[in-house]
This record gives sequence, structure tokens and C-alpha cells, in this order.
Amino acid sequence: MNAQEAKAQIDHLTELINHHNYQYYILSRPSISDFEFDKLLKDLETLEKAFPSFQNPNSPSLKVGGDITKEFKQVKHKYPMLSLGNTYNEEELTEFDNRIRKSIGNDFEYVCELKFDGLAISLTYENGKLIRAVTRGDGVQGDDVTANVKTIRSIPHQLRGNDYPAYFEIRGEIFMHLATFDKLNNTLRKELEEKGYDEDEIREQLYKNPRNFASGSLKMQDSKEVSKRNLDAFLYFIYADESVNESHHESLQKAAQWGFQVSDHFQLCRGLEDVFDFIKKYDVERKNLSYDIDGVVIKVNNYFQQQELGFTAKTPRWAIAYKYKAESVSTLLNEVTYQVGRTGAITPVANLKPVQLAGTTVKRASLYNADEIERLDLHENDTVFVEKGGEIIPKITAVDLSKRLPDAKKIEYIQNCPECGTALIRAEGEVMHYCPNDTACPPQLIGKIEHFIGRKAMNIDSLGAETVTGLHQIGLIKTYADLYELKYEQLLDLEFEVGDTEKKKRSLKAKSVENILNGIEASKQVPFERVLFALGIRMVGETVAKKLAKQFENIDKIANATKEDIANIYEIGDKIAENVVKFFELESNRNLCEKLKANGLQMAIVHDESIERSDKLSGKSFLVSGVFSMSRDDLKKLIEVNGGRNVGSISKSLDYLIAGDKMGPEKLKKATDLNINIISEDEFRGLIG
Ligand code: IVH
Repeated sequence: MNAQEAKAQIDHLTELINHHNYQYYILSRPSISDFEFDKLLKDLETLEKAFPSFQNPNSPSLKVGGDITKEFKQVKHKYPMLSLGNTYNEEELTEFDNRIRKSIGNDFEYVCELKFDGLAISLTYENGKLIRAVTRGDGVQGDDVTANVKTIRSIPHQLRGNDYPAYFEIRGEIFMHLATFDKLNNTLRKELEEKGYDEDEIREQLYKNPRNFASGSLKMQDSKEVSKRNLDAFLYFIYADESVNESHHESLQKAAQWGFQVSDHFQLCRGLEDVFDFIKKYDVERKNLSYDIDGVVIKVNNYFQQQELGFTAKTPRWAIAYKYKAESVSTLLNEVTYQVGRTGAITPVANLKPVQLAGTTVKRASLYNADEIERLDLHENDTVFVEKGGEIIPKITAVDLSKRLPDAKKIEYIQNCPECGTALIRAEGEVMHYCPNDTACPPQLIGKIEHFIGRKAMNIDSLGAETVTGLHQIGLIKTYADLYELKYEQLLDLEFEVGDTEKKKRSLKAKSVENILNGIEASKQVPFERVLFALGIRMVGETVAKKLAKQFENIDKIANATKEDIANIYEIGDKIAENVVKFFELESNRNLCEKLKANGLQMAIVHDESIERSDKLSGKSFLVSGVFSMSRDDLKKLIEVNGGRNVGSISKSLDYLIAGDKMGPEKLKKATDLNINIISEDEFRGLIG
């Protein structure tokens, strides 16, 4: 294919894919299969790779992301991004309506829309092309998140038709569907569990609600990651210097024709009665939507009337929000129980009389910690209000004091571990109580063994959680090191109970025993960095374990390292270093490691002799950017095996930027401004000879 043909084909595919994106994401009427669509996209990507200069700046292939942004550029809004006044009841809405009537008379209409619970975005289009996407920021200026927004499939890169203004802004809301939120948060939970985080650390890191998740996603630096988050957007307001038509209602319809996703749930209302009906209708309907809304927005329809009404300093006078109350129910507190995590952290849990709330039955609510119980002033048998205020785990918001029994006793936080009886400790400045008995408290021991055998750790998948619990209860294993002492005869036909509530007997047959022992044997080949992760040192996840293994090379060196030695490793903070030192301060943990060593586990790094190593790049930091003759991962490996260090962003202390094809112009500018050595792949090869 010659260049001219390639250009024509790239343009043709771009147009075709844009058309199918519109059919799929906006009209929900795909006319080709996913397979055919992927094929078109692949063809386009292949051609763009071969002829990069013909790639359209708004190519649909960019919807899979790829641009890395370290810091978002600040952009001043041409029209400030205002917020809306809030109302919570019909009286307040009537006051709003009266104010409008006083100002412009009685001849006007409203448009009622849903108030999407996401984050506001402003998109700028020039000659039908998306040129910029900016967050609300402080209303005056926001972050330029164009690369990330381009990955959102329902946002058109190129508009349809030809009757759009040459230059305009459209505002809307970026959000995440509830199902996507659940799926991604569950995946994140699994990852964190596998990395060895305890329940409290996991809860801290999980996203609290879809809005937080969407907002966190939009601020990510790697747009490829953003594209995996499946964000979505509804557009709801146009700003243009030349007027397109006379009313907001017409604009919404026009926006939909140009290819924007406009929600179907809007309605022209002749007066307040219609508005109240809309509000009531969606207070029920919102439970069936696939995304969160937190109210309704009411806007005066006609643009001239909007202009007449004008703005206050912060909000338009022609629009207002009506906010729904978070759904809340009251129910009885049966009991407060306490869970013990792998690290000994105690979590109090309110066990409730089951009650229906926002479509699910709620039986339990987390009480987080002792301070929360104190804040609620919780008493036995209290009637409590439970809310799902945008958060997935229900929360107790208050106690219904009118229903408290006169002799009700205050809930006293436990002093001793519910599982092993050891006195709990609460370190100064920390909110959590801990059971310090990490060498004998059953859930801590079992939790540590479960972590040890996990897929990303020793990967002994023939041993499940139930068997581990069973073997522990019988007394065959107390620590993970005991796994390596298990014998065939001990396990064959061994019986133990499984299940939390309904206890069932299970016995190990010959085949299972063989599998278990084979799995344990095979784990002796697992590389050192994963063994280190498997040990279950607090805050030592997979990545930290890799860094420690690389730096210290064997377990003895790590065990004898000082806090400073550890904290000196790039991107390992004081807190992690402190936990590592604390772990090896315990005689019992050192003994565990000795036992693992004696059983033949990999307690040191094994160098791959086929890879040529050097320290030619020792002490130097590198950033690789763009496309190279080898994969970026291979290039990074080359840097590492020659003693160099890879970093993720440009800063003053960076020694070399290795620039490949298609490196972003902003990165190049930043590196030039900071006087950083910019070298090509060939020059890099020169460095390592
Ligand atoms: S109109 C000047 N319409 O709510 C016009 N806003 O509390 C302002 N929002 O910042 C926006 N759904 O992020 C409008 N259908 C909708 C909306 C909506 C959600 C958000 C928006 C705004 C905030 C104001």
C-alpha cells in the first residue's frame, strides 16, 4: 500500500469506526458484531502504526488510551463553571418559582433533568472536533484531562452533521455505572487481598462510591488505565457565542443529533405541578437506573429568559437543584460483634434485625472502630437509623433516642480479643485496636497461612481456605512453615469440620493428599521475591517485596537491615521500613524464616546466568517514553540489569530520557526545560556498549 492509499484507508476506517461507535454507545443499536468492530479497530491501529503521520488527532484508536500525563495543565474556563443552588422540599422550590415569576412574569417553561452524581466536565469542540476537556476545578480554572476523556467511548471525538457552531463548549457529567463500580471494586479488593493487605487497609483503599471512583479514574496519569475504567458521560448544557436555537430543550435534542449522549430522562414542564410530578416519578424510578443520581435539576427553558434572570455570584438564577434525601430506614441493633483480621486489627460490626434498604437486605453495618461507637453513643437494643448515603457498606447514622429502653446499657468496647482472649492494644494516635497475639490467635494464624498459599504468593492452590482451617483446628499446622513438615500418612483419611454455620465433615482422600503434597513441594521453586511477599509482613505487597529482594538479594540481609537501609530504597517509605524491621525483631519470625530455609525454599535471588549484567548504569535514573525497536518492558529490563533505575516521571533529578517514536511533545518540552539528557535508543545502546 502506498502512502496515498494508506491515508485514504485510515480516513475511511476512522469515519467508519466513529459511525459504529455512535450506533453502539449513543443509539444502543449496534449494526455490526463486536468481533467485526474489533477487526476494524485493529486494521486502523496497524495502519496508524505503519503511517503514524496520517493518524487523525481524534482517531477512535485513541479511545484505548496510551498518553501519560504527569501533571494536568491548568486551563481557565471561558465561561466560569458555576454550581447550582439546592432545595430539599416543595416549599423551597415554590420560593424559587415565585422569584422567577416576579422577574419575568408567568409565561415560561421549565426543563426538568436528572442530577447525575458524577463530576462536571467541560468539553470544547472546534469545527466539530473535540479539542479540550477540562474539569470544574475551582470553577474558574480546572485540569486539562483531554487524554483521559478521549478514552470515554460515549464522548464523540468528531461530531456528526454540519449545523453545530464552529466553536462551542458543552458541559456534562462523567460518571461510572453501578455495575462497573461493583466489578472494579471487587477486583481491586481481590488484588489487595492477594497483596496481603488487611481488611482495614483494604477498606481504606477501596472506592467508597461510583463518584469517587470516576473522579479518581479521571485524574489518573495513564490514559490506558482510564480506558479500563469504563467511564460514561451525559451532556447537559451548551455554551456558544453564536446562538444555535432559542431554548435549552432544543439544544438537548440538537446535542443528541451531533452525537452526544444526552439522557432520555428529561421533560418540558409547564409549571410547578409538572415539576413536582417529575421529582416524585424519579424518586421511585431512580432505583431502576444503572447509575446514581442525587436529585433533579430544574432549568428555565428559554435562553432569552435565562439571560434576563442572570446569575448571582455563584449560581444561575434560572436553574436550581432539588436534592433527594439519602434513603434511610430504622431497625433494631441485635448485637455488636468483633472481627479479627490477619494482622490482628479488630473491626466492630453491628448485627441488625434484617431490613430492606435501597433494594438490598441489610443485616450488618460496619462500626469501623471504638470512636465510632462512642460518637453514636450506642446502647444495647438501640433502634438505629441505617443509610446507604452513596456508600456501598451501609452505615449507622444515628440512634432513635425516643425508642431507647430506660435501663439500656452502653456498648462497652471489648478489652480482650474475642478469639484468643489476649488483652487488646491501641497504639497512641491510631484508631484501631489490635490483638498483639500474632503467634497464637487463630484467625491471625489462619489468615497468615491463607495469605502464604495465595496465588500471587506460594500459589499452593491444592490447599483451600477450608482445609487450612481444618488442619489448623486439628493442630497439624500452626504456622505456614509447618506445611513443609506434613506427611502423607498424617493427611490420608483425615477428617475435619468445614462451614461456618452448617458444619459438615470432610475427609481427605488419597488423590487430594497427593495434590496437596505436590503443591507444597512445587512451591519450593517459587522465586525469592514471592516468598518474601508470602511472609505476610505488614505493608509489604508484591511490588515492595520485589524491590526488597532486588536490593538485598537474600533473607538474611533483609533481616539485618536497619530502618534507614530499607527506607533508602527508591519509593519505600519510613512506615514500610518500620514494619519490615519490626517483623524481623521477633524471634518467632526469624525462626519461621530459618525453618523455610531448611526446607529448601528460595530465600535468595537466583541470577539468570543467560543475561549479561553490568553496573555501567549504576546510580543513573532513566525514563523511557515512546515506541522502540523492542518492547518498553525489555528496554526497562536492560536498564535494570546494567545497574540503572527506572522512574515513572520527569523531574529535575532524572539523568536520562530515552526518547522513542511518538513521544508526547509536552514531555519533550518539560525534559528540555529541565535540561535533561535526551538520548535515542541507539545512544542508549552506546552507553551499555
Ligand atoms: S446544570 C449553570 N444539569 O450538579 C448550570 N448540572 O450542583 C450548571 N449536575 O456542577 C449545571 N446533573 O456537576 C446541570 N442535569 C444537570 C446536572 C448537573 C448533575 C451537577 C453539575 C453541577 C452540579 C451543581
